Amino acid sequence: MSGRLASGANRLDRMIERLLTQRACLRFAAGAIRTLPGPVLELGLGKGRTYDYLRREMPDREIIAFDKEVHATPDCIPDAAHLILGDFLETLPAFAKRHPPPAALVHADIGSEKPERDRRLAAAVAPLINTLSQNGTIVIADRAMRNAHWQSLPLPDDAGQWDYFIYRVG
Ligand SMILES: C[S@@+](CC[C@H](N)C(=O)[O-])C[C@H]1O[C@@H](n2cnc3c(N)ncnc32)[C@H](O)[C@@H]1O
Repeated sequence: MSGRLASGANRLDRMIERLLTQRACLRFAAGAIRTLPGPVLELGLGKGRTYDYLRREMPDREIIAFDKEVHATPDCIPDAAHLILGDFLETLPAFAKRHPPPAALVHADIGSEKPERDRRLAAAVAPLINTLSQNGTIVIADRAMRNAHWQSLPLPDDAGQWDYFIYRVG
């Protein structure tokens, strides 16, 4: 992982900056989509940390989580109707074929410590996210993404020293 934090910083400080940034971005997103209908898509359930934040911040939203495997703590595992397991590149197109309502928020927390693999995955996932979006959808991503329909937004002032990306669709 890279970041705005000095590359020599220790892993504890880097993790702290990452989590501060995630929380600031997700808090911003919760406010930004308040009047926009549609579910939240959590790409990368992982340990369930950001999923847990989102469900508490937005208790009335439907949240659908995606991951290739379950390694969340038990209290952060969505029920079967809200957890879609498999590779994003297969599950997102299959999910789109079900014609779900367009998402209000997509949080793509998909990165690893392999930059080249992450770049390829982010490039492949961005158009899939776009097909699940509407005008005004907020996309929060831990890796840079590009889409002609997306406008890049600045990080909130209270974000940590960590690279994270906010886009508005349309
Ligand atoms: C950075 S972690 C997510 C952390 C999580 N948001 C949290 O707060 O605990 C990235 C997750 O993406 C998943 N992942 C990575 N590549 C994937 C792919 N191609 N398809 C499905 N899941 C993938 C990994 O299994 C991992 O759980």
